[in-house]
Amino acid sequence: MNIAKFVLSSAIVAATGFLCLAALAEDEAAPAAKAAAPAVASPGTQYSAKGADTCLECHDADSDTANFTTAGIFKGKHGNPKNAHSPFGQKGMQCEACHGPGDRHSTQKSKRTETINSLKANSWMPVAERNEVCLSCHLNRSRNAWHAEVHDRNQLACTDCHKLHVGKDPVLVKQTESEVCFTCHKKQRADFQKTSSHPVRFGKMACSDCHNTHGTATQALLKKPTLNQTCYSCHAEKRGPLMWEHAPVTEDCSLCHTSHGSVRTALLNKSTPSLCQECHSVAGHPAVPRTGAALPANGGTGAIFVVAGSCTNCHTQVHGSNHPSGNKLLR
Ligand code: HEC
Ligand code: HEC
Ligand code: HEC
Ligand code: HEC
Ligand code: HEC
Ligand code: HEC
Ligand code: HEC
Ligand code: HEC
Ligand code: HEC
Ligand code: HEC
Repeated sequence: MNIAKFVLSSAIVAATGFLCLAALAEDEAAPAAKAAAPAVASPGTQYSAKGADTCLECHDADSDTANFTTAGIFKGKHGNPKNAHSPFGQKGMQCEACHGPGDRHSTQKSKRTETINSLKANSWMPVAERNEVCLSCHLNRSRNAWHAEVHDRNQLACTDCHKLHVGKDPVLVKQTESEVCFTCHKKQRADFQKTSSHPVRFGKMACSDCHNTHGTATQALLKKPTLNQTCYSCHAEKRGPLMWEHAPVTEDCSLCHTSHGSVRTALLNKSTPSLCQECHSVAGHPAVPRTGAALPANGGTGAIFVVAGSCTNCHTQVHGSNHPSGNKLLR
């Protein structure tokens, strides 16, 4: 009898326990399930009462993934309380300026990430929505071409290049910028390793010396309106005007040079003489008859003018000349 009673009561306890668990489970699942649909479109509705203090109760150096501390935001410009326009400025909304209203996220039992703006690389939020968060403060002159540019068209997020929870964003540092670009631009990584290359790999130059990655009206996101103007910004001596100009130089440096790297000297597309012979025929060379060599129909390679890549041995002023008798680019 006692035993039967005991068994019965245990059964009740067990059953009640089970019910409690079931109720708990329901409690956990219900709001989440109800929230799922609308929450995606508009995360949360209210800002948390104590701003960042609320967030940092749960998010700090210990609670976040390795190499990432939410507190890192205070090391950069966004954490500057003296700048009224920054998220932490006088009128700022702190963490929620970027992550959206977080009251619901902070108080509900399940911390469903759909109730807060997720800006991580593998975010559930569409790229355009994530970028709107940033553009709400940053759509100014330097980014007004963003919506027409190739990176936007290819669905890049601002945060594919920018890190915000760090003191110094690597893409803003000359020495580390290119590494960020190379994660996607593998061919360019290889080009900049070639024997002749712009000194990007030594940290002396960055992609952004020539490119504006936020978008420009020019080809290949170049900073200046034309390719040559981009080059002249550092190689001003090639600009002229010169007394004797070499037509292709004023037209387009890339007729002879690559911009990133080359296995030939001086970033050349091709080695001389074949580079020159793309446009000039040796057969027409005034000194050819003096060599006495009969040239094949294609111009040939036998003349003294072409041995050892020789054109530039005599035509030293390949970019043009200011010498009164430099019309043949010889001096
Ligand atoms: C009561 C603790 C708690 C509070 C308070 C809290 N969070 Fe969270 N937060 C969490 C937990 C737990 C997760 C992880 C949830 C998961 O992995 O699904 C999380 C996830 C996040 C994420 C990651 C979303 C993603 O996947 O990219 C962001 C961003 C975030 N919280 C921001 C905030 C902000 C901003 C506040 C202040 C308004 C805040 N949190 C307040 C507990 C909290
Ligand atoms: C200027 C915008 C901005 C502000 C302000 C900001 N964050 Fe973030 N947060 C981001 C971005 C962007 C990411 C994605 C990771 C990255 O870029 O570093 C992120 C990621 C996170 C994550 C996800 C981390 C992970 O990888 O799982 C958490 C949690 C978070 N932030 C919490 C906070 C808290 C707490 C604050 C306030 C103390 C805050 N954030 C302020 C932009 C911001
Ligand atoms: C509430 C407005 C606001 C939001 C939202 C915001 N920023 Fe900013 N951001 C600022 C301000 C203000 C500065 C500081 C400008 C200055 O000092 O010149 C800044 C600076 C920056 C800088 C330059 C940092 C440096 O060290 O020079 C970058 C990059 C940047 N923001 C990217 C982003 C990205 C990406 C997002 C979206 C995840 C974002 N910002 C969201 C206001 C905002
Ligand atoms: C393809 C990589 C890339 C993407 C994507 C990108 N940026 Fe940048 N951003 C850079 C580089 C590189 C710099 C530094 C050189 C420069 O200013 O051109 C920079 C500089 C900045 C600066 C500081 C200088 C300034 O112009 O005020 C801000 C702010 C900024 N980016 C915001 C954004 C925002 C907002 C987005 C998304 C709409 C975005 N960036 C997308 C690469 C990128
Ligand atoms: C997340 C990947 C990613 C990152 C990071 C990235 N890019 Fe791009 N970039 C692309 C894609 C995709 C395209 C378009 C397809 C292509 O031309 O390869 C592109 C195109 C370009 C173009 C060619 C534009 C044209 O009109 O032909 C330039 C220049 C460029 N990126 C420069 C940069 C620079 C500089 C950086 C670093 C500051 C950078 N990219 C970072 C993905 C990326
Ligand atoms: C010295 C100036 C300069 C530097 C530095 C530079 N680029 Fe370029 N880049 C150019 C020019 C000029 C073009 C256009 C080439 C053409 O049209 O012949 C170009 C074209 C590109 C293209 C389009 C595809 C291609 O190769 O033609 C990509 C992508 C690119 N650059 C990425 C980068 C990245 C990433 C970096 C930094 C690691 C970088 N560039 C550094 C000048 C430069
Ligand atoms: C931001 C400045 C800058 C811009 C813009 C620039 N260059 Fe350069 N260029 C350099 C530097 C620095 C060197 C290396 C000089 C050295 O190593 O002594 C260099 C070297 C060269 C060389 C010689 C390479 C060698 O191996 O001898 C050529 C050719 C060249 N640049 C062509 C160009 C062309 C073409 C453009 C335009 C697409 C251009 N540069 C744009 C800075 C620039
Ligand atoms: C007709 C082909 C051709 C064109 C076009 C051309 N270059 Fe060159 N460039 C050369 C050759 C060939 C050399 C190597 C000269 C040598 O070996 O003495 C050279 C060398 C250079 C050098 C390194 C040596 C020096 O003279 O400083 C720079 C820098 C340079 N070019 C920049 C430019 C710029 C900038 C442009 C466009 C304004 C340009 N080049 C257009 C053929 C050309
Ligand atoms: C992209 C085509 C092109 C390439 C490559 C080229 N040139 Fe020229 N070059 C021209 C044109 C066009 C003229 C102007 C011809 C005219 O005015 O009749 C010219 C003129 C000249 C002249 C002066 C001719 C005269 O009658 O005054 C010399 C010398 C010359 N080039 C040498 C070279 C050398 C050396 C190379 C190789 C380093 C070279 N060119 C590469 C197109 C080219
Ligand atoms: C041994 C020195 C020498 C070499 C090597 C040489 N040239 Fe010349 N080139 C000259 C001289 C000298 C003249 C001018 C002749 C004159 O003024 O009548 C000339 C004239 C020219 C002209 C102008 C032709 C004209 O009808 O007025 C061109 C174009 C030219 N060279 C291209 C080249 C090319 C391309 C190469 C390489 C394949 C080359 N040269 C190699 C010495 C040389």
